[in-house]
Amino acid sequence: MYATRLSGRHLIEPGDFTLDEMDRLFTLAEEIEDDPVYLRESCRGKLLATLFFEPSTRTRLSFEAAMLRLGGNCLGFAEPSSSSAAKGESLADTIRTVACYTDAIVMRNPKEGAALLASRYAQVPVINAGDGGHHHPTQTLTDLMTIRQIWGAIGDFTVGFCGDLKFGRTVHSLAKALSRYPHIRMVFISPPELRVPAYIKTGILDKEAIEYQEVDCLEKVIGDLDVLYMTRVQRERFFNEEDYIRLKDSYILNMEKMKPARKTLIILHPLPRVNEIAPEVDIDSRASYFKQAQYGMYIRMALLASILGVLD
Ligand code: CP
Repeated sequence: MYATRLSGRHLIEPGDFTLDEMDRLFTLAEEIEDDPVYLRESCRGKLLATLFFEPSTRTRLSFEAAMLRLGGNCLGFAEPSSSSAAKGESLADTIRTVACYTDAIVMRNPKEGAALLASRYAQVPVINAGDGGHHHPTQTLTDLMTIRQIWGAIGDFTVGFCGDLKFGRTVHSLAKALSRYPHIRMVFISPPELRVPAYIKTGILDKEAIEYQEVDCLEKVIGDLDVLYMTRVQRERFFNEEDYIRLKDSYILNMEKMKPARKTLIILHPLPRVNEIAPEVDIDSRASYFKQAQYGMYIRMALLASILGVLD
């Protein structure tokens, strides 16, 4: 067992941890996967708050499963109507209060910057489980771990991001994280209305001299990709229903579209999916999105054990 130097730290966005710190997390998560009883009682007596102001299946349940498997306990809410936020309590006051009861806080909130704000009021580590269309760093750890497991390393590949690249926080976080690794080329596949935001292109990709292109058509580029990161067009981020209906089925990955794809292509999706990957693709050996969901629990176990300081 070794310390990861993450004890007491917040995780708000992917740049909060160094590549070396993330590497140590991946290794720890792999050790946990290999030996399910490893660290089993390490968080006994620790309490995790999961505060979800937006719906979630994977993130909330994998954090709770992770904490329970480490011997700790969880409390929280799955929707804000059952908390005093519904009575108008500020996020700062909610966080100050929950930090009095628990050892760490995992929070999802529809407002960009909410996790950063929470971290300024909490006396315990805050983990961002998604803040609006901004970042989702533990999904990024999950994505990177999945790529590392299958590709063997994080570097020297071409990744295609497909779908809602404008509002998709998983895309923003992963693109930012991958820009720190060597020899990554990016292809952004979306309708013009859902292009990746300018702050990602100029603020991150151009700054890091990342080679990238933006295209409309998945079929034309699928054969060039090593990793394909599919995403859902998110109804909840649109201001009007008409635009959502017009764009929601822009890209549906099926076996016909997969014909030019490489035999080694890694197909990822943060999930949930709606229509964007046909169920027939699930049985293809390149479909890695349910494995990815499983890695999400191992990496969150590694993260919780590290920030709660039980490895020190
Ligand atoms: N990937 C992800 O964040 O899934 P949930 O919305 O189900 O948590």
